[in-house]
Amino acid sequence: MRRPLVAGNWKMNGSMQEVSVLLNALAALELPGDVDVAVFPGMLYLAQAGSTLKGIAVGAQDCAVSAGFGAMTGETSATQLKDAGCSMVLVGHSERRELQCESDDTVAGKFVAAQSAGLVPVLCVGETLQQREQGRAIETVTEQVEAVIRVAGIDAFADAVLAYEPVWAIGTGLTATPEQAQQVHEALRGVIACHSAGIAQGLRILYGGSVKADNATELFAQEDIDGGLVGGASLDAEEFGAICRAA
Ligand code: G3P
Repeated sequence: MRRPLVAGNWKMNGSMQEVSVLLNALAALELPGDVDVAVFPGMLYLAQAGSTLKGIAVGAQDCAVSAGFGAMTGETSATQLKDAGCSMVLVGHSERRELQCESDDTVAGKFVAAQSAGLVPVLCVGETLQQREQGRAIETVTEQVEAVIRVAGIDAFADAVLAYEPVWAIGTGLTATPEQAQQVHEALRGVIACHSAGIAQGLRILYGGSVKADNATELFAQEDIDGGLVGGASLDAEEFGAICRAA
């Protein structure tokens, strides 16, 4: 049985004051002992999150395509993130694929760099509204996953997390129905199973896209949904705690 994971992606949100308040509120939460919980603050707040939170993992929202150190102005390497106390890192979030023009190859490189530094990559995949309307949702996410398998190899997915985030559901309040999400999650697990049944069975696949306290229970009850990657609702400690308890 896969242990659920609920992760909060704070995106580009929070002042120093707001982050301190949120971290202290998260630290005070009574969280379930059978659910893994993680938060992904902005880079500026990673060390503060690591020193404030106990029992909640800290991850980064991005990393450089190269691990280690070097002449890459403005970049933060997976090695530096590990050194700062991170244990996970998002790769391939749709907002970065769109706004930073990150290709499947770039995402694959970040996935490999993350693992080379000892971080667990959370590979984000998802289709646009147009791709869904064209009936290409599963084709799209399949290619996004296969592109990483081609570079990293299937064994790498034994120490990774997958997150299905339909682009049309992110930040819109338009959550995928549990049936829509389950259909894609099942297909994603099938893609992995074509390479390794064992890895497919153990791989956690999170759903992201307008997860709220009032829809989390039904989403997380789906067979192939192993938790959530939560955006806006993760900025409210009480709601995030309720979502964690729903897993
Ligand atoms: O990475 C999670 C995020 O993309 C989902 O955002 O605000 O729809 O929960 P939101």
